[in-house]
Amino acid sequence: MMLRQRFKNKHILITGAARGIGFEIARQFCEESATLSLLDSNQENLALAVKKLAISDAGVYSYNVDITNRESVIDVINKADNIQPIDILINNAGIAMETPFLNIEVSEWKRIIDVNLNGMFYVSQTVCKLMASRKKGVVINMASKNGLDGEFGYAHYNSSKGGVIMLTKTMALELAHLGIRVNAVCPGYIQTPMSMEIDSPEFTSDFVNRYIPMNRPGKVEEIAPVFLFLASEESSFITGQVIIADGGQLAGQKPRSEFLYK
Ligand SMILES: NC(=O)c1ccc[n+]([C@@H]2O[C@H](COP(=O)([O-])OP(=O)(O)OC[C@H]3O[C@@H](n4cnc5c(N)ncnc54)[C@H](O)[C@@H]3O)[C@@H](O)[C@H]2O)c1
Repeated sequence: MMLRQRFKNKHILITGAARGIGFEIARQFCEESATLSLLDSNQENLALAVKKLAISDAGVYSYNVDITNRESVIDVINKADNIQPIDILINNAGIAMETPFLNIEVSEWKRIIDVNLNGMFYVSQTVCKLMASRKKGVVINMASKNGLDGEFGYAHYNSSKGGVIMLTKTMALELAHLGIRVNAVCPGYIQTPMSMEIDSPEFTSDFVNRYIPMNRPGKVEEIAPVFLFLASEESSFITGQVIIADGGQLAGQKPRSEFLYK
């Protein structure tokens, strides 16, 4: 099969790239010969990710950084941009915790908002200043189905992802005339190390049966191509949009089993 080369000579910076959806996005960009800068707070997983990607001929650089540390973020982004100007930013890093609203400690609330929203702001503002000076760039923000539709037990997470959606739209409005497109992706329930750490297999199976019309969780391989599409020239007139990939969950209420066609 002839591989596409949409990102040859493009430099892509991806946060939270050491595992899960972020790693799969990196892997798919790698297959299309992009130069990659991977940012992650987990040193061990980051080293493993770089090793796995080393089979490609693409340049892969890694930066062990917590995106909530603004000074470090500015430092590594400038280093990465000096190696090769950043063309595409994928803001994927995020964390989730399940806690009932009345039990959420202030420290837990602040950490979720800090990683999912403040960190995204630090990274985006730093990268977009560089992109603005060159009058071109693409940013894709990881939101979630939970940023559009609430889920019990996730008041802080839902709030952070709702914030990501409004950040995306405002950035798109302000940066369009500078040649920078900004969009968001809202995955539904995806099987990743994060979701498997939070949910038992029994929970996942019950959740899927109740809520997901396609009757299964999504795979990372099905989410990464949405990012690649939004990063590519194929989406050159799309900005300020929120693309949902959720197996039909947000389409409405799933039919009862006795209603389904045999
Ligand atoms: N898994 C799902 O069902 C799902 C659904 C919708 C949205 N998302 C979003 O997708 C993104 C990736 O999720 P995932 O399921 O692949 O998670 P994951 O935990 O498997 O991977 C997240 C990566 O981000 C890194 N990270 C976390 N905090 C960081 C920080 N402060 N600085 C730098 N790196 C940091 C982690 O080390 C990890 O490598 C998150 O933003 C998540 O909210 C996930």
